[in-house]
Amino acid sequence: MPIVRPAGTMSDPGPRGKFGDHGGRYVPESLVAACQEVEDAFRDAWSDPGFRGSLATLLAVHAGRPTALTPAWRLSAELGITLLLKREDLAHTGSHKINNVLGQALLATRMGRTRLLAETGAGQHGVATATAAALLGLSATVFMGERDVERQALNVFRMRVLGAEVVPVGTGSRTLKDATSEAMRHWVTCVDDAYYCMGSVVGPHPYPWMVREFQRVIGEEARGQCATELRTGVPDYVVACVGGGSNAAGTFAGFADTAAQFVGVEAAGGAGATEGRTGVLHGFRSRFLQDDDGQITEAESIAAGLDYPGVGPEHAYLRDLGRARYVTVTDAEVVDAALRLARTEGILPALESAHAVAWVIRAAESGELPPGATVLLTLSGRGDKDTATLMELV
Ligand SMILES: Cc1ncc(COP(=O)(O)O)c(C=O)c1O
Repeated sequence: MPIVRPAGTMSDPGPRGKFGDHGGRYVPESLVAACQEVEDAFRDAWSDPGFRGSLATLLAVHAGRPTALTPAWRLSAELGITLLLKREDLAHTGSHKINNVLGQALLATRMGRTRLLAETGAGQHGVATATAAALLGLSATVFMGERDVERQALNVFRMRVLGAEVVPVGTGSRTLKDATSEAMRHWVTCVDDAYYCMGSVVGPHPYPWMVREFQRVIGEEARGQCATELRTGVPDYVVACVGGGSNAAGTFAGFADTAAQFVGVEAAGGAGATEGRTGVLHGFRSRFLQDDDGQITEAESIAAGLDYPGVGPEHAYLRDLGRARYVTVTDAEVVDAALRLARTEGILPALESAHAVAWVIRAAESGELPPGATVLLTLSGRGDKDTATLMELV
C-alpha cells in the first residue's frame, strides 16, 4: 500500500484529491466513474513494483533517463551565483512531458484501453503522447488550438509522422484552454475505449496528483545529483517555469522536505498562480485569470505551453501555504534569456523553460538572489520547436 501523508508535503492528497481548498473532481456525471477508474488503476499500479519497474525501464531505455545536471559555468560567473540546470531538454522528444506520458500510456494499457486522447499547447505533450502510443501500439488523438497549430507547426508535423490524429480547435482563444475543453468534451463520448492522457498537473482528481508523481523523477534525480554537485547538498533555490505546473511540481516534490526555496515562474500574460482568483475549470478548483463576472479570461504568452489561464491545484495550495512563491516575467525578458543561455552555455531552451532562466537572471542582477546563491533550475525543454518564433524576432 502507498504511504499516505498529509497534503502539503507533496504526497497523496487523499480520495477527494484536495490540496487545501483546491483540486477535487468537478466533472459531468458521465466522467465521474471514468475518473474513479483512473484513480483506482493508478493507486493499484503505483503500489505495484512490477509497474514501477516497467516504467523505470522505459524511462531509461526509451526516454534516456537519468537526464544530466549541467552546471551553467559561464552564466553563473556572469551572475555571481551557482546555477545548475536539470536537463529535461535532453529527454527523448525534447521535454519533460515524456516522463508523464510514458507513465499514463503504460497505465492505459494496464486498464485495457487502446486509444489515448490528449490536449496540447506547445505540442510537446502531443508529441510525447504520439510517441508513447507508437511505442505501445495504441492510437492517439490530440486536440490543439488553431493558433498553436500555426506557431508550433514542427510539432504538428512530428505528431502526424508518429501516426497521431491532430484535431485543430477553432473556438475561443484557439490555444490550450480551448483544446483542453474540446478534448474533455470528446472524452465524454468514448470513455469505454479511450484513456484521457492529461498533459499537466491539472484536471479532475487523480490527474494533478498522478501527473506530479510521474514527474517526481525529475526532482528525485536532481536531489541525488545536487548531493554530489553542491557542498551544501541541497540548493538554496529550486526554480521552474509554470504553465499547468508539471515540471515545477515534479521538481519541487524531490525537495519538499528541505529548506530550499521554491520559485515558480509564470508568463506575465498567463499568470494563474500570481494573479488568478479561485474558480473552477476543466474539472478542478484552483486559481484562474477571471473578469469581474467570474468569466475565465484569455492567457497570452509567447510560449504556447504557458498560454493557460490557470495553474494546477497543488501550486495554488503551495502558494497559500507560502511554501512556494510565484513570479512573472515578460515575453521580452524571455527572448533575451533564451538567447543569453544559448550564447553562454550552448543550450537553446524552449521559450517555456526560458521563463525560469529569465527570472534567475533578473533576480541575480537585481540582488534579490544573494551573491553565491545556489540555484537548481529545471530546463523543461529544448528550443527547436520555437525557432520559427525566434526567427521573426532576432
Ligand atoms: C518545454 C515545456 N516546458 C513547460 C511546459 C509547461 O507545462 P508544465 O507547467 O506542465 O510543466 C510546456 C508545455 O507545453 C513545455 O512544452
